[in-house]
Amino acid sequence: MTNTTHLPTLYLSPPDVAAILRRQGMAETLRGMHDAIHADYLRWQDFDKNARIGCHSDLGVIELMPIADDRTYAFKCVNGHPGNGRFGLPTVMAFGVIARVDTGAPEFLSELTLTTAVRTAAMSALAARALARPESRVMALIGNGAQSEFQALAFHHLLGIAEIRLYDTDPRATDKLIANLRNTAGLRLLRCDNVAQAVRGADIVTTVTADKTQATILTRDLLEPGMHVNAVGGDCPGKTELHADVLRAARVFVEYEPQTRIEGDLQQMEPDFAVTELWQVLQGHQPGRTDDRQITVFDSVGFALEDFSALRYMRDCAQLHGIGQDLALIPRFADPKDLFGLIGALAGGVDGTPSPVAPRREPELV
Ligand SMILES: NC(=O)c1ccc[n+]([C@@H]2O[C@H](COP(=O)([O-])OP(=O)(O)OC[C@H]3O[C@@H](n4cnc5c(N)ncnc54)[C@H](O)[C@@H]3O)[C@@H](O)[C@H]2O)c1
Repeated sequence: MTNTTHLPTLYLSPPDVAAILRRQGMAETLRGMHDAIHADYLRWQDFDKNARIGCHSDLGVIELMPIADDRTYAFKCVNGHPGNGRFGLPTVMAFGVIARVDTGAPEFLSELTLTTAVRTAAMSALAARALARPESRVMALIGNGAQSEFQALAFHHLLGIAEIRLYDTDPRATDKLIANLRNTAGLRLLRCDNVAQAVRGADIVTTVTADKTQATILTRDLLEPGMHVNAVGGDCPGKTELHADVLRAARVFVEYEPQTRIEGDLQQMEPDFAVTELWQVLQGHQPGRTDDRQITVFDSVGFALEDFSALRYMRDCAQLHGIGQDLALIPRFADPKDLFGLIGALAGGVDGTPSPVAPRREPELV
């Protein structure tokens, strides 16, 4: 039913997204997210693209990620603060919007903290399906924080990874991952004492650590022929995970080159260091892996297109399951030129007299 006071905007809260994940299951949701991102990468040329805009501080970054095709505009606002744990906050928090290009009206507002983890894992799986050896069954997962279970499940369900070797500098992070995924059928989890032990013999290495520094989680000597490296945590100026020699030893694939040159592990390399944008591989213009001994790197930073896909996919899921709430975000006007008159109309009085509010009490000093 159309309401009279505001335009229809669907709002999806974290409990709503959790309800969708519970109802569909993680495997189906990751598959649906993967397919939505894949479909949008296949029409890469339709999008108006920009490197995201970051607001940096010593403690982290807040980023705005806009993108549009000729009908739909989307943005995500996301932060990355590796030290947030001491405030009881996650490293990454996000929300986003879909709006109509023809009028600018926002139609969908969603939490993207949970959703980003699903979309990042689905994107990693999409890249790995194009770049890793198809017979890959063993993955090392370095960094067992908030994103890690989603990465583990995406590689298990979408690539057939059956064994994951875990390492984190914080053993409690690995405890948490093992507890969360202990009932995943067909997935063997092995705790390792260091990066080298986790990486030895792995087909795929996922690095998803958080530290606002030029870290070298993975060094050249740990690479083995045919490995695929899914490097997720180096995603901001001054924040990397791979030694430069890892990139030199590999064929490197990126989402959107102008953004990855600034933010990815690629920031360490000379400006003409060769990379391939993944859409070229997905659309068949460039080869992915060309032989079984080649080392491939997906230098993931997270691109706005993936959030565009994630927002539209979650909106479709919400509508399918009847989940979400109507949000009074943009008012309806009797006369669109009379914004001033709207104050009175919305406050319930013709003269705009504000409705009574309880006076604010200052905290008492004791
Ligand atoms: N590429 C993308 O699209 C994308 C999307 C989301 C998050 N990220 C990035 O992924 C990273 C992880 O995010 P999160 O939400 O899981 O963060 P988190 O803080 O929850 O987890 C990070 C984990 O890394 C561990 N760690 C730090 N340094 C380490 C080291 N040297 N060796 C092993 N483990 C180490 C920490 O102990 C922690 O458990 C962040 O850097 C974030 O910015 C990237």
